[in-house]
Amino acid sequence: MIGGYTIHGHAIVSADDRIAGPDGFTPASLRNEADWARFQAALDRAVVTVLGRRAHEANPNTRGRNRLVLSSSAHGVERRADAWWWNAADVSLREALSRTAPSAGIVAVPGGRTVFDMFLDISFDEFHLVRAGRVAIPDGIPVFSEVLPGKSAAEILSAQGLVADPPETLDAAASVDLTVWRRP
Ligand SMILES: NC(=O)c1ccc[n+]([C@@H]2O[C@H](COP(=O)([O-])OP(=O)(O)OC[C@H]3O[C@@H](n4cnc5c(N)ncnc54)[C@H](OP(=O)(O)O)[C@@H]3O)[C@@H](O)[C@H]2O)c1
Repeated sequence: MIGGYTIHGHAIVSADDRIAGPDGFTPASLRNEADWARFQAALDRAVVTVLGRRAHEANPNTRGRNRLVLSSSAHGVERRADAWWWNAADVSLREALSRTAPSAGIVAVPGGRTVFDMFLDISFDEFHLVRAGRVAIPDGIPVFSEVLPGKSAAEILSAQGLVADPPETLDAAASVDLTVWRRP
C-alpha cells in the first residue's frame, strides 16, 4: 500500500513461469478467453494501469484506459496521445500516481518482467497469478527475473510475505487456474 493506493499484479504464466516467448511476444497458447474476461474486469476496477513500454506496444490502449507506461524515453511524467508516460529515474511512484490517478484506489500492474521486478521491490498487496498448466515456454521471458536462476514464482511471492488463496479453476479443459496471492 502506498498512500491510498493498493498495488495488484496480474500475469498469465506458463507451467515454467514464463510470460512471453524468447522473441518477446506472448504466444497464443498463453491467451485464454476466461482469463481475458476476468483480467479486463479487474482492469476496469483500477484507477490506473501500469505497464512497461514493451507490454504497452504489444497491447495497445484500445479501450482508452487510464494507462501509465514506463520508459526511459519519457521526461518525468508526460501526457501522450495513447497514455501517460513515466520515467522512474525522474519521478517517484508516489508522485507519478498522484499526477495520473489523484483519487487513489487500485493500481493494476500487468507487467512485463521489468515492471514486475520493480514492483516486487516496492511491494505488491495482491498478485493475481494465472497459470496455463499445459504450456511450457523454454527460454521464454520469466514473470520475475529471479525465475532464471531457478526459483518458482510461488517461492518468489512467498518470500515477499504474500500468502496464496486456494486456486480457482478458470478453464478446466485448458488447465488454466488462478491463484491470488495476498498480503495478510
Ligand atoms: N503473460 C503476461 O501476463 C504478460 C504480461 C505482461 C507482458 N507480457 C508480454 O511480455 C513482453 C514484454 O515484457 P518485457 O519484460 O520484455 O518488457 P516490459 O517490462 O513490458 O517493458 C520493458 C521496458 O519498460 C521500460 N521500463 C521498465 N522499467 C523502467 C524504469 N524503472 N524506468 C523507465 N523505464 C522502464 C523500458 O522502456 P524503454 O526501453 O522505452 O526505456 C523497458 O525497455 C510482451 O510480449 C508482453 O506482451 C506478458
